[in-house]
Amino acid sequence: MLDGKHIILGITGGIAAYKSAMLARLLVKAGAEVQVIMTPAAKEFIAPLTLSTLTGNPVISEFFTANTGEWHSHVDLGLWADAMVIAPATASSIGKMANGIADNMLITTYLSAKAPVFVAPAMDLDMMAHPSTARNLSYLRSYGNHIIEARSGELASHLVGKGRMEEPENIVAYLEVYFSRHNDLTGKHVMITAGPTYEKIDPVRFIGNYSSGKMGYALAEEAAKRGARVTLVSGPVSTSVSHPSISVVRVESAVQMLAAATKAFADADVAILAAAVADYAPAEPSEHKIKREGNEPPEIRLVKNPDIAATLGQLKKDGQHLVGFALETDNEMANAADKLKRKNLDMIVLNSLKDEGAGFGTDTNKITIIDRDGTAVSSSLKSKKEVATDIFDHIIAKF
Ligand code: CTP
Repeated sequence: MLDGKHIILGITGGIAAYKSAMLARLLVKAGAEVQVIMTPAAKEFIAPLTLSTLTGNPVISEFFTANTGEWHSHVDLGLWADAMVIAPATASSIGKMANGIADNMLITTYLSAKAPVFVAPAMDLDMMAHPSTARNLSYLRSYGNHIIEARSGELASHLVGKGRMEEPENIVAYLEVYFSRHNDLTGKHVMITAGPTYEKIDPVRFIGNYSSGKMGYALAEEAAKRGARVTLVSGPVSTSVSHPSISVVRVESAVQMLAAATKAFADADVAILAAAVADYAPAEPSEHKIKREGNEPPEIRLVKNPDIAATLGQLKKDGQHLVGFALETDNEMANAADKLKRKNLDMIVLNSLKDEGAGFGTDTNKITIIDRDGTAVSSSLKSKKEVATDIFDHIIAKF
């Protein structure tokens, strides 16, 4: 499972750093190409020479090599990696990762990484139990990082409690399970609609909605991480993408979104319709700015917009999977199930505006996934990144 994978092994300054040599060896044995990045403190615990010998790659620790001036690009490293494993992760480094304190090469690379990040904490039991550590780890989880929990046992202080880094062979096993479950969209084309649509009233005004596009963008990043080629058809939002496998088609109105989505759907394996498409558009947008002076308030006649989901539902061929969203305020389950049937979807993701933290503009969401056969699975309030992971786990398990 790790054959050919590019793995950054981040080592921070804790006594468990001596086990990182074994971890590096096991990763290389499993077929991975390993690039070690050490924090300055880590080098007090284990020699870079050990790691460079085991991985066949020079260890990186500083922003540049002093004698040659060669710059180490954390951005390039972040793009190169298929996974980043930080083991051991000390309380200090976890705190820096949680809060974006980029004062060494490892943290800058972490902040630039597009790949999944695995964190194996190791520290004394009191540090492990401190609320600050718990809070920082919960931040990392909310960023979509995977925490490989520390174990209980005898610690360097000779105290016994939780804080031992997970054993290297179990960390490798964790990665193997992750890749066997998650990299299964390689070679697939995923189309996603995201954001609001703007329907023109005149050259300076539009009818729109509060959608931020965050859910659709998180889905696009997740699909790309799993190896898919992604077409993201996006309404006007300020959110941006970073993964090189995502191509963004920017549109404004529902009519433009329909055209771009239909085109991309032709060879898509999975389409997810996360856009908040305006249901109506002004029938006759004015070519000139509508003036206030000397005019009665205008009456704007509206016409129905095309239903993109329903159109793709009609076009859908065998082997194509169509996933919709339903944002509801009342009768949530019944309305979502009805939309699923009406639009010929395979799955619908329901969020209720009654749930605090769900819906537009937030960084979190609370969803229920409903399948064609009526089965429904609800989850707790999570970051949109985590929700994107759950949605793809579900799609892959089902289809
Ligand atoms: N959708 C779409 N095109 C539209 C309207 C909705 O593709 N013109 C998609 C949304 O992206 C979403 C699903 O259909 O995946 C349901 O959207 P929603 O706005 O909840 O449903 P509507 O059909 O607009 O129903 P209503 O406004 O009556 O709730």
